[in-house]
Amino acid sequence: MEIMAQLDIPDKLAAGPRTAAQVAEEAGSNPEFTLRLLRAAVAGGLLSAERQEGELLFSNNAVSEHLTTSHPASMRGFVRHWAADCFSAWGTLGETVVDGRHNFPKANNGQEVWDYLAERPENQEDFNAGMKSVDGLGLAALIADFDWERFDRYIDVGGAFGSVLNALLVHNPKAHGVLFDQPHVATAAEEGWAARHSHYPGGAVPAERVDFVGGSFFDASTLPQGKPGDAFVLRNVLHDWSDEDSLSILKALRSAIGSSGAALVLLEMSLLDDVGDPMGFARYHMDMHMMAMCHGKERTKKQWEALLSAAGFQLVAMRPTRSIFWAVEAKPVEDAAEAAAAQ
Ligand SMILES: C[S@@+](CC[C@H](N)C(=O)[O-])C[C@H]1O[C@@H](n2cnc3c(N)ncnc32)[C@H](O)[C@@H]1O
Repeated sequence: MEIMAQLDIPDKLAAGPRTAAQVAEEAGSNPEFTLRLLRAAVAGGLLSAERQEGELLFSNNAVSEHLTTSHPASMRGFVRHWAADCFSAWGTLGETVVDGRHNFPKANNGQEVWDYLAERPENQEDFNAGMKSVDGLGLAALIADFDWERFDRYIDVGGAFGSVLNALLVHNPKAHGVLFDQPHVATAAEEGWAARHSHYPGGAVPAERVDFVGGSFFDASTLPQGKPGDAFVLRNVLHDWSDEDSLSILKALRSAIGSSGAALVLLEMSLLDDVGDPMGFARYHMDMHMMAMCHGKERTKKQWEALLSAAGFQLVAMRPTRSIFWAVEAKPVEDAAEAAAAQ
C-alpha cells in the first residue's frame, strides 16, 4: 500500500485500467518489478485486475480509491507519511522500549520530527494532508457531541490545515476562527484553504472568517490573546509532547488566556487506567506511535488532571464522544494574587 501511494499508482489508475507496463512507464518504475508489486497488491485486496483481450489490466478498487489525491476521505497523505517518515522510527522500536528515548531522532541523524518535516516541503505537505485523514476517525461526532455553540471564537492551536476549525465554523456560522501553527504551516493552510475543505459537508467557510497566525505554542507572546467567549482548541497536539514540554505549552496557553475566562478544550484519544477500552487497539497503537516518533504519549484522566493543574488550569470535564477522541475541557484557575490585583 505504501509503495503504491509513494508512486501514486492509484492516481494513475483513476484515469482508467492500465497494464503493469503502462503503470511503470507513467511511474518511471521498473516494468517487471511493477508487475510483481501490482500482483501482490491484488492478492492483498488493494487493487482489482482482469484479463481483457490477452492483457492483464489493473484498476482501482474501493481500497485504492482512498489512496487517490482527490478522494474526499483520502488516506494518501497519511500513508505516504508513514512510508517516508515513520518506518525508520518504528523499525528499531525495540531499542526505544529498552532505553526509554523516542526513536525518531536516533533514526534521523538527531533531528526531531518537526524540524525534519520543515526541511522537506513534500513530506510536510503529506503529513498535513495526513492530519486531515484523521477526520475519518470521527470529526463529525467530535463536533456533534460537545456543546461548541457556547463559544464565539475558536483558536485551533497546532491546527495544521485547519480541518477541525473549518468544521467548527460550519457548525457555528456566527463564530470566528484563528488557525495557529508554525509559520510555514499557517501560510500553507491559508493558501489552500478553500480547496482543502471543499469536500467537507457544508464546504469551506470563507477564509475571511479565519485569521491565520504563525508562531510557536511554546512562546505565549506569539499566541492570540484570549477574549471572553474564546475556546482554545488543541486536537492531537499535546500527545506529541513529553510531560515537561506539554507543561510549557499549557503554561504559555494559560498566559495567553490571562483573566479572559476563555476555555481550553483538548481533543485527545486518552486512555483508561486499565486495559479493556473498546477502542483500545487504535488508542494504544497511537500511544506506541508517539513513543516511536516524538516522546509524546496518550494520557489518562489522572495524568490530564495533574498536568492541567500544574499549568494553572482545572479539569472541568472529560467527555467521551462517538469518535476516537475525548473532549478534555479545562478552565483557568484564577491566581489569588492576580484576582486581588484585579479588584
Ligand atoms: C499531530 S499535528 C495535529 C494537527 C491538527 N491539530 C489536527 O488534529 O489535524 C500537530 C501540529 O502541531 C504543530 N506544531 C508543532 N510544533 C509547533 C509549535 N512549536 N508551535 C505551533 N504549532 C506546532 C504541527 O505543525 C502540527 O500541525
